[in-house]
Amino acid sequence: MSLDHYYLLGRSGLRVSRLALGTMNFGTGGFHAAYGKTEDEARPILRRYLEAGGNFVDTADFYTAGESETILGNLIAEAKVRDRVVLTTKFTNSVDPGDPNAGGNGRKHMIRAVEASLRRLRTDYIDLFLLHTWDRITPLEEVVRTFDDLTRAGKIRYAGLSDVPAWYAARAQTYAEAHSLVPMVSLQLPYSLIDRAIEQEHVPMGVNLGLGITAWSPLGGGFLTGKYRRADQGLAGEGRLSGTGPAVQSWTDQQWRLLAALESVAGKLGVSMAQVAVNWVATQPGVASAIVGASSAAQLDASVTALDFELPAELRAQLDEASSVPPSSVYRMFTPAYQGWLVSAGVKVSDKPDEYAPAVRNWAPDEQ
Ligand SMILES: NC(=O)c1ccc[n+]([C@@H]2O[C@H](COP(=O)([O-])OP(=O)(O)OC[C@H]3O[C@@H](n4cnc5c(N)ncnc54)[C@H](OP(=O)(O)O)[C@@H]3O)[C@@H](O)[C@H]2O)c1
Repeated sequence: MSLDHYYLLGRSGLRVSRLALGTMNFGTGGFHAAYGKTEDEARPILRRYLEAGGNFVDTADFYTAGESETILGNLIAEAKVRDRVVLTTKFTNSVDPGDPNAGGNGRKHMIRAVEASLRRLRTDYIDLFLLHTWDRITPLEEVVRTFDDLTRAGKIRYAGLSDVPAWYAARAQTYAEAHSLVPMVSLQLPYSLIDRAIEQEHVPMGVNLGLGITAWSPLGGGFLTGKYRRADQGLAGEGRLSGTGPAVQSWTDQQWRLLAALESVAGKLGVSMAQVAVNWVATQPGVASAIVGASSAAQLDASVTALDFELPAELRAQLDEASSVPPSSVYRMFTPAYQGWLVSAGVKVSDKPDEYAPAVRNWAPDEQ
């Protein structure tokens, strides 16, 4: 499963590595400046990823105030890999707070954003163009139609979504299919052993509607490497999550217990905690690729070798249990415990849904 084994992204013909390289920390400006890297520091990270056979690179227009795209454009041109790389970027976040149309997901901004990204990335096409975040105002029909126009104009090859509710993605995909517009092929979402919220709605939706999930922060921003210690209301240790006081993110007792389970599994396998954490995410159902970040080529070494071993079922089960989140409201009805209780009470709904799976599968268009 090394990076030069490529997988289809969602229901598409686009072949991508199982691990993508995140470049949110390339550049030293804007929102991500506190942990940003200069072009000279970023170069060995991208090189290491490409040498390992990786072909899937992620950025966004607002990362480090546009510097991430600029650096990536320079480094890709320098390495002469533009065509080989599947270049992903995103739009939504405002580049000019004084101008209401300089951000959001409306057609005017989408077209402006694509042109600006093409300039910074020094290319004439984007392989995968993603809506970064639901803006809660633009009609989704406008977004889907603009994706279609941009594809036909040759500006982008594929379209996708990031950080949207599952109902929004489902309706966007259904609208595209119903009107023969280009479909969305991927969905970028937070997913790791410390954040499994997407499993309830987004994962089954993606699997059913052909959206390959690309998981961001698979290491929980570095927490799952095991390098942090508990401090008063925060974390102690070297890295971008360090800090204390009420303003920093709080970490739950379950997350610390999960860390202990992760350390134990890594010890049994003789690999690092980071490798186990990345392996777990990248091989979860519905996940097309995990987007790893790194502050140095040495850090990236741990992640790019994360798929060189198989996570045995019993050890995966230990991690699943330590990181599990209870299903909410209606989803409790589909747990084995609840279904078993229904059957024992004489209420037969579909006690063995797997028996019906072959018939259902015959209807899936990708298996025809
Ligand atoms: N769509 C979205 O809304 C969204 C949001 C966030 C991210 N993303 C994408 O996902 C990418 C990855 O996100 P992320 O950076 O949060 O991912 P991550 O892989 O969870 O965290 C990466 C960070 O962990 C630390 N780290 C990594 N390997 C390590 C090692 N072997 N030893 C010690 N520390 C290590 C480094 O930070 P330190 O050195 O500072 O500790 C590194 O920058 C981003 O670049 C971006 O492309 C998308």
